[in-house]
Amino acid sequence: MRSKEDLEKEIRMVGKDILDSEWFIRGFSQSHHFRSNVSDHELHVTKTSLRIAGLFASVDREALIRACLCHDMGLIGNRKVVYTTGRMCITQHPLDSAARAVNILGKISEKERDIIEHHMFPLVLNRPNSTEAVIICIADKVCALYEPFTVRSSSVKLHSRLRIPVHAMA
Ligand SMILES: [Fe+2]
Ligand SMILES: [Fe+2]
Repeated sequence: MRSKEDLEKEIRMVGKDILDSEWFIRGFSQSHHFRSNVSDHELHVTKTSLRIAGLFASVDREALIRACLCHDMGLIGNRKVVYTTGRMCITQHPLDSAARAVNILGKISEKERDIIEHHMFPLVLNRPNSTEAVIICIADKVCALYEPFTVRSSSVKLHSRLRIPVHAMA
């Protein structure tokens, strides 16, 4: 099994353009899952997905990292403002997250789109079409369960290890 340090190095290397983007920094100011925020949640989902990916022989880890880091960006500035109902939020934010991923990266692969747009399955009945998209569906729910109990100091240490300039957090 890969060490925490190796996973974080991989995330920093593959996700550089996303981690340094304005959208990602903004995500630290949008609260998510009670004690967390969108970008910390995306980091947790990325790490959890990579751990699950280690159980499979063949996984596109680059696509998984890029998509996990962007999967909830659609929530930023939209939740409770543009998304006026819970249902609208659940169905629309994956599509808006994919659009913001394109905005940051220029383009995304079909697999990355699958991972981002179908991560809410089975709450939304758009089925994932790849192993990587199934992995994020599981990781996303696992993280949502423990994030209400997360400790702020562990996030601060994670930002420092990943060299993310976080100035404002929820
Ligand atoms: Fe989501
Ligand atoms: Fe999520």
